[in-house]
Amino acid sequence: MKQLHKDDNEPLYKEEFSISSAHEALVNRRQFTKFLTLTSLGMFTGNLWILGKGYFEKKPSFPRQVVGKEEDVPLGAVKLFRYPEESDPCILVHTQDDAFVAYSQKCTHLSCPIIYSNETKQLECPCHEGSFSLETGAVIKGPPPRALPKIVLERQNGVLVAVGIEASHE
Ligand code: FES
Repeated sequence: MKQLHKDDNEPLYKEEFSISSAHEALVNRRQFTKFLTLTSLGMFTGNLWILGKGYFEKKPSFPRQVVGKEEDVPLGAVKLFRYPEESDPCILVHTQDDAFVAYSQKCTHLSCPIIYSNETKQLECPCHEGSFSLETGAVIKGPPPRALPKIVLERQNGVLVAVGIEASHE
């Protein structure tokens, strides 16, 4: 019959695994502490990197680009233009006597071109019936997930100039 215990009543596995349980616990605790320290250090370094990247990252710079003369866009009319690249369609709307707004013309849902509705005074996307506020670009209804990026305009002696883009925060 197979012997399960040595003569001094020590279990057989202790003979095969020579590390005593007290030392084994010590080694495990050390390894665990080392693991925690290294993991914490790794996470700390990662967070520092993310923080530094955000801090030192350059803000995008946009060109100054003439959109058109104010007198060429009557009240309620629109003018289409491209900004900041040729591949970025935008829409300018003359909203009130002395007010103009401009947005990216790409719907934030699936990039269909939005249009201005003089009837509803909203920017509308004909693809899936999304609509945006003319004042803020915020989504009013439909599937678009966020507001339209707004084109920052400056006025210089009756000329409208695009100088930047405000990303939507809504
Ligand atoms: S692409 Fe504009 S609502 Fe879908």
